[in-house]
Amino acid sequence: MNLSKSSQIKVGLSDRSYSIEIGRGLESSILEYKLDLLNRGEKVVAITDQGLRSSNPSFLDKFFQSTDHLILPSGEKTKSSDHLIQIWDFLATQRVDRSSAVFAVGGGVTGDIVGFAAATFLRGVSLYQVPTTLLSMVDSSVGGKTGINLKAGKNLVGSFHQPAKVFIDMDVLSTLPKREFSAGMAEVIKYGMIGNPALFQSITDRVAPYDAAIPELQELIQTCCSEKAKVVEDDERETACGRGGRALLNLGHTFAHAIESVAGYGDYLHGEAVSIGLVCAFRLSRALGLCMQDKEEKLLSALASYDLPVQLKNPLPALSLTKSMQLDKKVFQGKLRFVLMESIGQAFVQEGVHLTQVEEVWKSVGAS
Ligand SMILES: NC(=O)c1ccc[n+]([C@@H]2O[C@H](COP(=O)([O-])OP(=O)(O)OC[C@H]3O[C@@H](n4cnc5c(N)ncnc54)[C@H](O)[C@@H]3O)[C@@H](O)[C@H]2O)c1
Repeated sequence: MNLSKSSQIKVGLSDRSYSIEIGRGLESSILEYKLDLLNRGEKVVAITDQGLRSSNPSFLDKFFQSTDHLILPSGEKTKSSDHLIQIWDFLATQRVDRSSAVFAVGGGVTGDIVGFAAATFLRGVSLYQVPTTLLSMVDSSVGGKTGINLKAGKNLVGSFHQPAKVFIDMDVLSTLPKREFSAGMAEVIKYGMIGNPALFQSITDRVAPYDAAIPELQELIQTCCSEKAKVVEDDERETACGRGGRALLNLGHTFAHAIESVAGYGDYLHGEAVSIGLVCAFRLSRALGLCMQDKEEKLLSALASYDLPVQLKNPLPALSLTKSMQLDKKVFQGKLRFVLMESIGQAFVQEGVHLTQVEEVWKSVGAS
């Protein structure tokens, strides 16, 4: 365990405000927190996934030994109605009540489905997020979006349920497979493209790519969490009209969700689909006369330095991908909306893009 100073970021949402603690060796901090909850008479339960439990059995071992817990199967297919019912049944069996605390320990899949179960069980119980993948640390554990997938599309059922606190212990990343770490880097690069050109440049300028052990990782995670906190504080429920707001965080995601849904959940990691989605969003912006060509090379080489895909593995039909986009939550009053960029770091929401342009972009990444 590598002990170092932890930092705190606040997400200011009046009575739903919370802090994100980021550091290494946070186990004792999490245990102390749990003890406080127990001393206040709260019941504590935890839910995690099999992949984390078997690859990193020592992470939060003491926490799990002394806490009623449920272990879910790993992977995107777990974000389903069947597993949601399994979690509700577990919470009921454990006699979780409205004063109880539910800890979601795992990646974005665990955080999303456990978050949705916590949002809906007894119409809402307290949720604590302990993200264990890079993607969940920089993105999904913060901001309160929870949900499950349907066959018809990603995240089509869900709700907003802010956590009461987020604990980010970077030590747990030591067992995260490289491919999963890279998937998280796609979301990091996304933050740079939305509104932080300096972050984008610092990633493209790096000689050695980020990894789980690098000291600068803490600053990188802090930057992403602060970016997300700012956006969520301004537009918690993604209701801002016009060209900005929380919708900007979906850069590349309308494309990514279509890839995940058409290819079949789990074929691409979410971050891998986002990587191709970022290329698509960039090319659509270019097709509308925005963004500079030289930045495309920078984007492609930044993604390539993490072995992230920039082309489809197999040629999925452009027609199916475009159809799937029409089920996306970003459809508003029947029109497809895209997050595009004036330039790297200046994203905006655009309505009324011609579908023929979208199909061209799909073909540019290998769709048939
Ligand atoms: N709610 C949001 O705002 C939001 C934002 C972005 C993404 N998401 C969602 O997040 C999900 C993707 O999350 P993810 O990429 O974390 O995937 P994931 O939760 O499936 O985790 C990836 C894999 O890593 C394993 N794992 C987790 N931590 C580990 C560790 N420390 N060591 C070894 N193995 C570990 C898991 O068992 C799993 O097999 C998608 O469903 C996506 O839609 C949600």
